[in-house]
Order: sequence, then structure tokens, then C-alpha cells
Amino acid sequence: MSLYIRSLRSAGRGIGKAPTCVFASCSRRLYSSNVVRENDIVLLKHRTNTSAPIITEKLQPGRSVALTGDFIRADDIIGKSFREVVTSRKKVLYRIHQPSLAEYTDNSPRLVTPIYSQDASLIVSLLDLNLTPPRADPEDEAPFEIFEAGTGHGALTLHLARGIHAANTPSPEIPELSSAPEESDVGYRRLKLDIEDISEEALQEKAAKEEVKATFEKWRSTRRAVIHTLDISDKHSAHAEKVVKNFREGIYYPHVDFHVGTIEEYLSARLIESGQKPFLEHAILDLPATQSYLDIVAKALKPGGSLLVFCPSVTQVIECIKEVKEKKLPLFMEKTVEVGGAIGVGGREWDVRPVKPRALQKTEVLEAGLEAADDEGWEMICRPKVGVRIAGGGFVGQFQRIVEFPARLEGTVSITPT
Ligand SMILES: C[S@@+](CC[C@H](N)C(=O)[O-])C[C@H]1O[C@@H](n2cnc3c(N)ncnc32)[C@H](O)[C@@H]1O
Repeated sequence: MSLYIRSLRSAGRGIGKAPTCVFASCSRRLYSSNVVRENDIVLLKHRTNTSAPIITEKLQPGRSVALTGDFIRADDIIGKSFREVVTSRKKVLYRIHQPSLAEYTDNSPRLVTPIYSQDASLIVSLLDLNLTPPRADPEDEAPFEIFEAGTGHGALTLHLARGIHAANTPSPEIPELSSAPEESDVGYRRLKLDIEDISEEALQEKAAKEEVKATFEKWRSTRRAVIHTLDISDKHSAHAEKVVKNFREGIYYPHVDFHVGTIEEYLSARLIESGQKPFLEHAILDLPATQSYLDIVAKALKPGGSLLVFCPSVTQVIECIKEVKEKKLPLFMEKTVEVGGAIGVGGREWDVRPVKPRALQKTEVLEAGLEAADDEGWEMICRPKVGVRIAGGGFVGQFQRIVEFPARLEGTVSITPT
């Protein structure tokens, strides 16, 4: 595997200044408890106006939640029940909520624009994930792997991880991650700590942490389903990892592997490992120039698997369709769905496909027979589908990996499987 591509966990990358507390999955709260505890993240809604809700950091005694020109003491929130009201320094009332996954991803502090929750939910539903829980007598089966690029805020990552959650056994305690890529002097400080802290207690603590890490790594190798999420930016990836890890004490975090690097490097290395056999069930791309990555992703995608592209405009979906056609990639367009708040839940399906005007087809057949029906003279249909359910901005293009492309074998042009 390329040195540039790193599985961040194996590289031991940390999550900034995240608190050092760790949680065993068995100690994770089922959230039947109604009381806010230290280290919880809560959602604060203004009691009287509809301003955007606030997602707090992990609540620490003695600290406060900063608001614009105002603040709330964390101690005033800790110990209260969800749905109780808390008063800010300026006597503004906020109701305390436990954030849903959607509220959390839509409102948590971000470095990049996430896929908003209703669109993320739609994307997950397009994948139609129906994973079964682990059996008592586990079979030796290849893991169910989904690839996502770019990671961005980690919003879609969290939704995807929830989609595969049932397939894995409960994770053991999540190890504390030790360093942060954005802290350039972290190596020095870590070294310093190692030198200074050699007390018996510190050594025992270190050994205990190593054991937690080893147990977790062993469990990771037994996962039945994994989300591989990749971003070219170390900073974005680190932020997203923190977002994923901080949601409900890391409930979905163990199902995700974070990678930093380029799509080509990661997938090429994996394809070499697999002997060029496709290994991905599904893939989702949310990054610029999506069409540039279809070739390599199609190689890694198992037949029948979905490749979803999330594009801000329909013309970018068209670019993808053109790329598939021009390069004769083994993908066919399943559907194009417009998403976004103005559209409503479920998206609005568009008719986006290349067609050859009938007059041109007739001429070609007359002049040179079917073989002449090549890549010339195609036009794009691009309009909302009539008579379909208007049910939730951007466009999702869904392609499906076909076993083989009949046009390649027969010398005719077709984008649908026969
Ligand atoms: C719009 S954000 C993705 C948001 C994400 N889907 C979410 O729901 O939070 C796009 C991300 O793609 C990453 N990116 C841009 N070019 C890339 C490339 N060539 N390879 C991998 N990631 C890339 C950016 O660093 C950025 O984090």
C-alpha cells in the first residue's frame, strides 16, 4: 500500500485536544437516561425564536458554552433533564435537547459544507442497506465495504455508519487516540511526556491503554461491515473523525476507517491486494470533478453495486454520464434525483440520459448498418421526470456496476444492461 495513503488508526493519528476519557461499549448509555452528564453534547434551542439551534462541545464542569455576546455555564446544564430550560448570562432561555443524528450533523461546527441530513438519509436509502446481525456461528465471509470520498464534515459518514451498525458485533472500549496532525509540535510533546512520566502509575496506565488498543484492533479485524472514508485533506479528515467519535460516545465510530490521500492511491493499492478483484459493495463521491474518478471506482465496485455521485448541479451529473459513455465504463445510469430543502423528502427524479435523435439513427443504419452506431451524434435529455412523486441542493446520480458492457462485446452502443 502506498505510503501516502494512511489508515489513520494504524498511523496512530489522534483527534486534536479531545478529552482523554474513553468509553467501553458496554458502559454506553442506552439514552433512556434523561439527565445531562459531564461530557455530554447537547442541543440548545432558543425558547422563543426559531434561530438555529446550538450544538455544544462536550460539557465540562467549570467551563461555559459560548453564545454570540452571551454564554451559559456548563454547570447550569449538567444535572438537568433533557427538555428542561436553562438560562444564559443575559437571561435568555434555551431548552436542552439531546441532539438526533440529523440535528448533530446539520448543526455541529464545521470546516466544510456537509451533505445535509435529509439528503444524507436519502443517499443511504438509495443504497438499500439490509445487513443482517452477526450470527452465533460466524461464517468466513468478506466484509461488506462501502467507500466514501470526500469525508468532509463526516455527516454522510455518520449516516452510512448507522446504516451498517447492525452488522457488527458490539465494539470493545474505544482507545484514546494520541496525537493530532494539525499540531506540528505534537511529536516533541509526546516525546517529552514519555521521558518525564515514568512513574509506576504512568507505566501501568500506558500498559492498560496499549491493551485497550490491541483489543480494539483485534475486534476491528473481525468487522463484518466497514465504511472507508477518504479525504485529501488531513485537517478535514481529523475534524470529521472528531465529529463521528463525539456522537453519542462514539456509537458508530468503530464502523468507520478514516483515510487521507487520493482516491487512485487508495483504491489502486486495495486492488493490488485483492488481485484486481472488486471488493466494494457501494461507493459515494462528494468532491469536485467527480467524473475523473469513475474509472478507478468502477474497477473496485462489485457487480450490482451502486456508485452515487453527489453533485451541486445537474450538468455535473451529465459530465459523469458522458465519461461513462466515452470510456465505456461498466456502469449504467440508474437514476438522477434532485435533493434539497425546497424539493421535499425523497427527492425529485430527473430524466437525465443520452439519446440519439431518431433521424440520425435511421441515416446511420441506412448508410453503414448497426455497427456504425458509435459515439457520435448523441444528445442529452435533461428534465424533471413527469408524473413521478414529488417527495426533499444538489443532484444525486446513481450508477450501477454491470457485469459486462454488452456494447463492448457486440460493437453496438447502449447504456442499459440487456
Ligand atoms: C463537500 S465536502 C464533503 C462533505 C461530506 N460528504 C459530508 O457529508 O460531510 C468535500 C470534501 O472533498 C475533499 N476533496 C476534495 N478533492 C478531493 C480529492 N481529490 N480526493 C479526496 N477528497 C477530496 C475536500 O477536502 C472536502 O473535505
